Order: sequence, then structure tokens, then C-alpha cells
Amino acid sequence: MSDVTRVVLVGLMGAGKSTVGSAVARKLGWQFADTDHVVASISGKTVAKMFDQDGEASFRLAELAALDALLDDTTPRVIATGGGVVSTEEARQRLIDSDDSVLTIWLDVKPATAVARISDPSTRPLLVGNPVARLQAIASERQQWYELVADLRVDVSVRSVSEVTASVLEALGGAVSWT
Ligand code: S3P
Repeated sequence: MSDVTRVVLVGLMGAGKSTVGSAVARKLGWQFADTDHVVASISGKTVAKMFDQDGEASFRLAELAALDALLDDTTPRVIATGGGVVSTEEARQRLIDSDDSVLTIWLDVKPATAVARISDPSTRPLLVGNPVARLQAIASERQQWYELVADLRVDVSVRSVSEVTASVLEALGGAVSWT
């Protein structure tokens, strides 16, 4: 691996992308960004409110714009994406086409484990009703896309945040500069 300056975390809701991402960024002395937070701060609405008032398609456009802007900026950064970022062809292509300075890591989690980790499922509009069944259906559609865009896969189902953080740092190996 040559010099990586952006690490993008993809995976289902509840995979721990934000928690692991901010821990990895702290260890590396890099910045951290979460596309959900970028979208919410630009729109002035929570993600749930955006789904409700503007619809998912509008959210996906804003999410893609946030991803594009973060990848265009070469500041060393760990980027946690929303679980559904891979559902648009444009976002998938952007990750696939990115050069070697961008490393995409799939935090792979079983849907039941992921749901158990989400403290407030009402903040996830796509999980309304039966969250485990909803996330299983979502996972079976998205698995192929996570596989497609990711350079690396880390199984996070039975591991703690610090273990997953250590695996991600180990996977980065000599590809990044430590501070
Ligand atoms: C979504 C995941 C959420 C958020 C939105 C939609 C999805 O982010 O973007 O609720 O489609 O999987 P997290 O993966 O950070 O929960």
C-alpha cells in the first residue's frame, strides 16, 4: 500500500463506524468526519427529519455531496459513512475510482448484533417496525456493494471497539504516517 491519507469506513448501521472511526483518527492524529453529521449540519435537520420531510432520495444526494467533498479534500482524515452510502451507483463508483490515497474498509457486522448495538433505533428511519428483520433485508441487498467498494474487510461482530480499532490500525500498517 502506498501513502493512504483518507480512510473510509463503510458497513451497516450499528457496525461501529463512527466509534471506531473517531478512535482510529485519534490514534493517527488525523481528523475525523461522519457523513451523517456533515449532512445534518448543512441541512440543519437530523437525518431522521430529513428522511421524513425531504425523502430518502434527497438525503442520498446530500450524502453523496458530503462524501465527494470529503474525498476531494486531501487532509488526512478518517471518514465514517452512513450505512446506505453504497446504495447509490455514483457513491460506489466514487469509492471504486478513488486512487491509492483512499482506503475503504468494510466493518462487517451481523444484523442482529448491529441492532443490539444501536442505542436508539428511532434515529434510524430505515429500521422502523422490526429492526432486525429490516436490517437483515438491507444487509442482503448491500453485502455485494460493501464487497465491491471495500479494499479490506474487518469482521466486527464478536469484537470490542478497541479490538476493532487495533485491527484497523494493523490493517493500515505502514500505509499511513503516525504522529
Ligand atoms: C442509513 C444509515 C444511517 C443514516 C441513515 C440511513 C442506512 O447511518 O445514514 O439513517 O441507509 O443504512 P449509520 O450507518 O451511521 O447509522
